[in-house]
Amino acid sequence: MIRTIDLALSGLGNVGRNFLRILETKSDRLAADYGLALRVVAVADSSGCAVNLDGFDPHALRLRKEAGGRVADLPEYKPGRTLAEFLALAGFCDFLLEASPVNLSDGEPGLGYVRAALGAGISCVLANKGPLALAFHELHRLAAANGAGLAFSATVCGALPVVNIGRRDLIAADVSLLRGIFNSTSNFILDEMAAGRSYADALAEAQRRGIAETDPSLDVEGWDTANKLTILANSFLGVDVTLADVSVQGITAITAEQLAAHRAQGEVIKLVAEARQVENGYRLSVAPLPLPASDFLAGCGGWEMGVEIHSDLYGKQFYKIWEREPLPTAAAMLRDLVNLLA
Ligand SMILES: NC(=O)c1ccc[n+]([C@@H]2O[C@H](COP(=O)([O-])OP(=O)(O)OC[C@H]3O[C@@H](n4cnc5c(N)ncnc54)[C@H](OP(=O)(O)O)[C@@H]3O)[C@@H](O)[C@H]2O)c1
Repeated sequence: MIRTIDLALSGLGNVGRNFLRILETKSDRLAADYGLALRVVAVADSSGCAVNLDGFDPHALRLRKEAGGRVADLPEYKPGRTLAEFLALAGFCDFLLEASPVNLSDGEPGLGYVRAALGAGISCVLANKGPLALAFHELHRLAAANGAGLAFSATVCGALPVVNIGRRDLIAADVSLLRGIFNSTSNFILDEMAAGRSYADALAEAQRRGIAETDPSLDVEGWDTANKLTILANSFLGVDVTLADVSVQGITAITAEQLAAHRAQGEVIKLVAEARQVENGYRLSVAPLPLPASDFLAGCGGWEMGVEIHSDLYGKQFYKIWEREPLPTAAAMLRDLVNLLA
């Protein structure tokens, strides 16, 4: 028995197109292993939204976007209609996959899409951190009130399942320290600068590979890392925090000379996110820090991201991932979707 699951896909950029690529290559596997047929019935990009209740061809759609096409040029384009309007219709689809750009001012368009979908009982899987960094608990309340699923393991460290580990595998733990390198664009830039490459050149490579944020100032000024720290803190540190609770400093003031001077002393500068337990909760910070070369996070180079979690019950845990393209993040969205259906 194959169960058809209808999807709305918001954002057809690096992540959205890689999600389509997975549908192209893994549909047989999803049918055989999970009894699922995933059908994309709505798509949106910056030009608008299109609906095809029989399902878009993922291959044709991806090629069209890769060739610079716009949703507004599709025959199924719905002029004057927004994806949010369709999502607000109960039963329109089963899942919203949200991969539009991060917007820390008001969370839009992603926050509006997620609110509309959850309000209609449609489950949501997010790669976009913005809605969660701004409205984590509101969205969870909305999901619970409408019997919808909400998953977001793709928002932190790409495909590294940090959110899942924290929520599923640290039952009853008191976490005394959570530290991590959560942004591979800035990690790559720091490594490349230490090796003599220019900041601009290294950033351009991260953009070319589809790893940098749509607005790369979010990467280098520390906000992407702060978003992820906020999501983790709310997910499994038992606190109710927003971005305003995080002290944030990025890497833009770091010079090649500083990197070299620390290296000569056996230290490596890393952009470190930290949640440290204090009397009334956690002190949350993002800042470039010199670490001894033997430190776990110092050993996360270039395209790696990592996290270290110290707790009373589960010891000290260390995880890292190497991710140089957006495919693993798109796969994390697939993982969330299948897990929500289980
Ligand atoms: N790239 C990664 O490795 C990675 C990893 C983890 C999480 N994420 C998150 O995933 C999300 C997508 O990242 P990305 O790298 O795919 O970004 P991207 O390449 O810049 O793509 C963004 C997509 O969103 C579309 N978009 C813009 N405005 C929209 C609107 N109003 N409604 C619907 N779609 C709209 C864009 O349309 P156009 O095509 O018309 O420009 C584009 O297709 C971001 O929130 C990012 O933080 C990315």
